[in-house]
Amino acid sequence: MIFIENLYKAFGDKKVLQGANLHCPRGESTVIIGGSGTGKSVLIKHIIGLLEPDSGRAVVDGKVVSELNEHDLNELRKKFGMLFQGAALFDSLTVGENVGFALTEQSVMPRPKIKDRVLECLDMVGMPDIYDLMPDELSGGMRKRVGLARAIAMKPEIILFDEPTTGLDPVMADVINDLIIKTTKALKVTSVTITHDMVSANRIADKIAMLYKGKIIAYGTPDEVMFHQTDPVVKKFVEIGRIIRQTEAVQGRGNNI
Ligand SMILES: Nc1ncnc2c1ncn2[C@@H]1O[C@H](COP(=O)(O)OP(=O)(O)O)[C@@H](O)[C@H]1O
Ligand SMILES: [Mg+2]
Repeated sequence: MIFIENLYKAFGDKKVLQGANLHCPRGESTVIIGGSGTGKSVLIKHIIGLLEPDSGRAVVDGKVVSELNEHDLNELRKKFGMLFQGAALFDSLTVGENVGFALTEQSVMPRPKIKDRVLECLDMVGMPDIYDLMPDELSGGMRKRVGLARAIAMKPEIILFDEPTTGLDPVMADVINDLIIKTTKALKVTSVTITHDMVSANRIADKIAMLYKGKIIAYGTPDEVMFHQTDPVVKKFVEIGRIIRQTEAVQGRGNNI
């Protein structure tokens, strides 16, 4: 479904991607892990054509993303649902309007049908009764769930999640992870998720890929990457990730459920 082929990207003299290769198979959940600032977001921005590669390419559904004209790129983007860090809801719109935004914009169905679809999506994320609320009435975890409902509203073939659990306490992170698993499996979507949370990676991944110094240095099932690693860099990253998560669980980090 998605191929990243020998991707290079630098900003000025800062080399971010340096020959990254990755295959995200159709219907699978691929999780990208890696330290902060390693280029994970830069990598997935190439998948939807928000960034142009210096060399190499991203191929989605047989199409080279950087070679598409504006019309074809817009068509391709309709296949995608996205949940970015912070959920980025429109604060002046109700929850219902936020979730139905793309459906309304692209007039894909009559308005009463849109409301039904929005209610169905809010139900899927466990919040059927918040249609008329405003985003500033929601907690961090609720905002993420609204973001997730919005990401699935168009019944996308591919969903990109950029740090969906960052800033949430471990309990809410697990709720979001379970919803990601439930919604992606129910819709049979191909998903690519960025996280630095090893517990989340382990739960939601069919395959885990680790980005390090501009390249994917490990790829495999969670079991292979997390428990049968010989590469010292990957091993260290996985172990530190586990310790951080345990510490957070003990301290009960955050109170933004
Ligand atoms: N549009 C941009 N212009 C300049 N530098 C950027 C841009 N986007 C990302 N970077 C830089 O690229 C590096 C990788 O960023 P990013 O992909 O966001 O990291 P992360 O792995 O944390 O998601 C960072 O040093 C960041 O400052
Ligand atoms: Mg990022």
